[in-house]
Amino acid sequence: VFLICLTVLLAYLLGSIPTAVWYGQGFFGIDIRTKGSGNAGATNTFRVLGKRAGTIVMLVDVLKGYTAAMLSMLLWYLDVITFREILTFELVFGLVAVIGHLYPVFAGFKGGKGVATLLGMILAIHPEMAAVCIGIFLLVVIASQYVSLGSILAALAFPVLLLLRIFGQKESPLLIVFGFVIFLMVVLTHQKNIARLLRGQENRTVLIRLRKK
Ligand code: G3P
Repeated sequence: VFLICLTVLLAYLLGSIPTAVWYGQGFFGIDIRTKGSGNAGATNTFRVLGKRAGTIVMLVDVLKGYTAAMLSMLLWYLDVITFREILTFELVFGLVAVIGHLYPVFAGFKGGKGVATLLGMILAIHPEMAAVCIGIFLLVVIASQYVSLGSILAALAFPVLLLLRIFGQKESPLLIVFGFVIFLMVVLTHQKNIARLLRGQENRTVLIRLRKK
């Protein structure tokens, strides 16, 4: 139990690494949370600081979720948990890392929206479905130019496609339930984006601006 609690703490600290905030402050001397959409995430880093910064922040944020979920494998390897418990703890550690990303102890508890970190977690748990969701995300973003809409629809696609068994195999009911919880989280973190989308005022310039840079 002690080791599991320690790993939960580790997953939270890992998720808490405020990549966008530190990158902006370290290399540009600005707090990303005061610019663009005000979000400390990869999308806003792309928007405000450009391609290179956005790519690095995205990769690190994905890696945070991936590594946190993979801590479950480590505990299994160390015989702390059983094989059947791997998925449960992947979900627990991944989700704790996402909470760390949303409320980072290293950045005044004001973080991002958790999409990249969620992706990292899903990549560790179900890489095939993660690939499908990345495809859906890219299609929506290219077609609509709204990154937030891509995030929301990809998060919805995950549990729905699990339910539909698109890979022909029976998927874990636990994963499906968690998928819907994750979708709910994404909707909650994107409330302002949804309001802007409904008003037709959402930022749709990411790709356009990048082309100019
Ligand atoms: O991953 C966050 C994205 O879906 C929206 O970001 O900066 O446009 O609020 P942003």
